[in-house]
Amino acid sequence: QAAEKGGYEHFMIKEIHEQPKAIRDTMTSRISKDSDEVKLDDITLTAEDLKNIDKIFIVACGTAYHAGMVGKYVIEKLARIPVEVDIASEFRYRKPIINGKTLMIVISQSGETADTLAALREAKAQGARVIAVTNVVGSSVAREADNLLYTWAGPEIAVASTKAYVTQLIAMYIIALYLARLNGSMPVEEYRTIRDEMLSLPEKAEELLAKKEEVQKFAAQNFMHKDIFYLGRGLDYTVALEGALKIKEISYLHAEAFAAGELKHGPIALIEQGTPVIALASQEDLFDKTLSNIKEVITRGAKVLAIAMEGKKDAEKSVDEVIYIPKTLQLLAPVLEVIPLQLLAYYTAVQRGCDVDKPKNLAKSVTVE
Ligand code: G6P
Repeated sequence: QAAEKGGYEHFMIKEIHEQPKAIRDTMTSRISKDSDEVKLDDITLTAEDLKNIDKIFIVACGTAYHAGMVGKYVIEKLARIPVEVDIASEFRYRKPIINGKTLMIVISQSGETADTLAALREAKAQGARVIAVTNVVGSSVAREADNLLYTWAGPEIAVASTKAYVTQLIAMYIIALYLARLNGSMPVEEYRTIRDEMLSLPEKAEELLAKKEEVQKFAAQNFMHKDIFYLGRGLDYTVALEGALKIKEISYLHAEAFAAGELKHGPIALIEQGTPVIALASQEDLFDKTLSNIKEVITRGAKVLAIAMEGKKDAEKSVDEVIYIPKTLQLLAPVLEVIPLQLLAYYTAVQRGCDVDKPKNLAKSVTVE
């Protein structure tokens, strides 16, 4: 096993470092500088089919569900088709309205999660078209869907998902761009801007990994607290959910994510002197609003680590620590922003002496209900 870990102490930290490559591999041959089209071999939807689709469901569990939340945001923004995101175990028992005009996207790293597979079967039985996004070639989800997009993250061994998640995000962007080009809802200039910026993400992820000591330091100072909170707005909120899940899974800290605008409706009551709060503030158009939420928790004694985009100097003035992510489109920020959160979960778990790769009570893939 030591050899398989390639010199790293755990699979999780190895897989965190493999993200630049995983992102690059998932984009290769699908989007490139020399083409204005998204090339997807295993997706056969035509412009004609798409005209007939009035609703998209994205269905998944756990980390994949959080990737789906990003998917809703980007598909609605770029392709202008209504999207609903569902937890698979809820979807399958709530009699959702599905018909021949529905497109379902299931996301599953393993392709074997029982609830996700059952949701896929239900949708097919009702006449929906299905796209599967999965990391395992030939998995059940891959075999049963009529359209397929593999995430090329490579085998993920650690129970807590990291590189599979970022490739699922890339898959969401790719599908959004594909649908938007197919239905003509996005001008080619906008396509090029997003595509070019996506192609620079592996390099930017690499830059961010070089800042791991900053995160390690914060983890070393805060690993003893009983609670940790994550807050953000818009896409930042979806990443907050993933950050909280990560630290819960492997360090057993009580972690919760809040939509920053909901703070006043309850969560702020939980903030005490010294409570660590991770504030995600990558979204340019929501920055001032998030900053004012940050000030509210600081007034109540919170110790804040903010994640902001390079150039947002205002963040520094207000909080204890800021980790800057390289400048990118706010739409793509989740791909970079999650990296410090994964590192925070990792270093916190290590500090607390937890079994990082095999957390108690959790399985890599949940194949029974
Ligand atoms: C388990 C894993 C999670 C994963 C979830 C969904 O709970 O521990 O890391 O996100 O299942 O798995 P899937 O393989 O369907 O993405």
